[in-house]
Amino acid sequence: MPASFQPVRGMRDLIGDEAQAFTAIIGRARQIAEYYGFCEVIVPHVEPLELLSAKSGEEIRQRMFIFKDLGERQVALRPEFTASIARLVTTALRNEPKPLRLFSSGTVYRYDEPQKGRYREFWQSNFELMGSARPEADAEIVLLTNGLMASLGLEGYAFKVGHIGVIRGILCQDEVDEKAQNAILQKMDKKDYDAALKLVDSEKSRSMLEGLIAIKGDNWRETVDQMLAYVSEYPAAKLAVENLAEILGLVTESTNTTIRVDPAFARGLEYYTGMIFEIYVPQLDIALGGGGRYDRLIEVFGGEATPAVGCAHGIDRVAIALQTQNAVRIDKSVKRVAVIAITEALKVQALKIAQQLRLAGVAVEFEVMGRKMSKALEDADKRGADYAIIVGEREFKEGAVMLKDLANRQQSVVAIEQLAEKIKS
Ligand code: HAM
Repeated sequence: MPASFQPVRGMRDLIGDEAQAFTAIIGRARQIAEYYGFCEVIVPHVEPLELLSAKSGEEIRQRMFIFKDLGERQVALRPEFTASIARLVTTALRNEPKPLRLFSSGTVYRYDEPQKGRYREFWQSNFELMGSARPEADAEIVLLTNGLMASLGLEGYAFKVGHIGVIRGILCQDEVDEKAQNAILQKMDKKDYDAALKLVDSEKSRSMLEGLIAIKGDNWRETVDQMLAYVSEYPAAKLAVENLAEILGLVTESTNTTIRVDPAFARGLEYYTGMIFEIYVPQLDIALGGGGRYDRLIEVFGGEATPAVGCAHGIDRVAIALQTQNAVRIDKSVKRVAVIAITEALKVQALKIAQQLRLAGVAVEFEVMGRKMSKALEDADKRGADYAIIVGEREFKEGAVMLKDLANRQQSVVAIEQLAEKIKS
């Protein structure tokens, strides 16, 4: 056996502070879920391949970890949560009253080319709001993303927003079939506009898309006005722009955030039917999260027609953004102490003291290596403990222990009943 196994390419170990930073971000997402009325669901890592590939799009389909289980079933590691949640809504949650607000978090798997911020196993916090086609549902998804980013302490972030109904509206009217539309959108997602335009058979549509790609601007209202005028001959595309304007009106009038509309914005996932968005910070050119409206997925899975909108946040990337902005906040408020018994005979008493302290909300590392006091103290110091508690014969007879403050090296005899209070003060 090789002595130095490494994680599989694109997968990582998260250790100590890094793991804590991830847990803290997920904890915050869970809190946002609670504040926005989302119910947590835990879904499997492995799903039928057919479910995961139904509407995910070529890009994701080619990057899935696919295998046959021992029962010869074609299965895959989930590349995202949306398909699993849509499955839930067509099965166990079929009869639940709408709207359904569902939150999940965990790892997802895509065979991407590993680089900074791009892994093959990565973490998402995922929110889906099912059952409403109204713009306030879309606004809620954008607002909760904004709420998460703000509460984590991220600065300077901006939303890039578009509407898939604009591009599809144009292509449908000029009778470009759905398969071709999907291929065009995949290229547009990669910003490979030349390749996208080459795939458009209809000359009219091609020139419309060219014009759409050229519309730019930092003020979302102006961009939306330009788009409205531009698609005036395309009723479905016009409705899509109006819908976008209404959503963004709701968002920007209810909170202060930066929105940029990109008329030619497309996302890799195939199921989107309406508003789509991604979120960026200036220091990174990769999206920290993304989502949008997908009104037909649940039907594709055999459920009742159910409009839906959702998003996922890339925890790994949010962690990088926080680090880049020096905004990582790890809660170090719990005091840490080392408890050391001087003699074998006092071990049980020392264990009891440790338990009492833990019940009182103090973190205790009990001396388990049988080391001499000086070595144990040295180790506690190295590990960054706040205090050491030395349980010795003389003090213990008086119902007390020695409490050593490892920061200022002062020590005092403290009654066992007052220990927790003294440490926490
Ligand atoms: P997505 O844009 O594919 O959307 O992924 C969401 C986020 O996951 C991205 O914005 C990014 O932060 C992170 N991410 C994606 N790929 C990687 C990777 N290889 N390494 C690290 N992070 C990555 C979805 O997954 C949709 N299911 C979102 C959604 C929910 N739409 C509607 N409902």
